[in-house]
Amino acid sequence: MTENKITSRELALAAIEAMKKSYSPYSNFTVGAALLTKSGKVYTGANIENASYTPTICAERNAIFTAVHNGEREFSAIAIVGGLKGDIKGITAPCGVCRQVMSEFCSPDFKVILVTSSEGEYEETTLGELLPYTFKL
Ligand code: THU
Repeated sequence: MTENKITSRELALAAIEAMKKSYSPYSNFTVGAALLTKSGKVYTGANIENASYTPTICAERNAIFTAVHNGEREFSAIAIVGGLKGDIKGITAPCGVCRQVMSEFCSPDFKVILVTSSEGEYEETTLGELLPYTFKL
């Protein structure tokens, strides 16, 4: 599949599917993410929690790290969805740590699709809007 064949809505629906794989028995807050590479592949992730809390990984980083581990370095968009026990009540914006991880691999025009309903409705923003003045070495 090539990038221009995947719409924001399709990426949103992939994130909703990914959210169903969340392991979140401590917060009960399920999150899913679907990451689109510039070559048109989609990598998904969900949040996975731990009894010791801090080892918890967010859905976004799960998707990004899986993609990078599979040799990907260039990304064009990510869709993110979340809700208490899977109930999508509005946007779930990425946490600061995930924004920083995005900035390692993505440019300010990287599209961030914030899913607002179980039908795959969404709002769009960019990494540059979410994280200006990125930390870089
Ligand atoms: N979480 C994410 O997966 N992504 C975010 O950007 C924010 C928070 C997860 C972590 C934890 O499992 C749950 O949501 C509640 O914080």
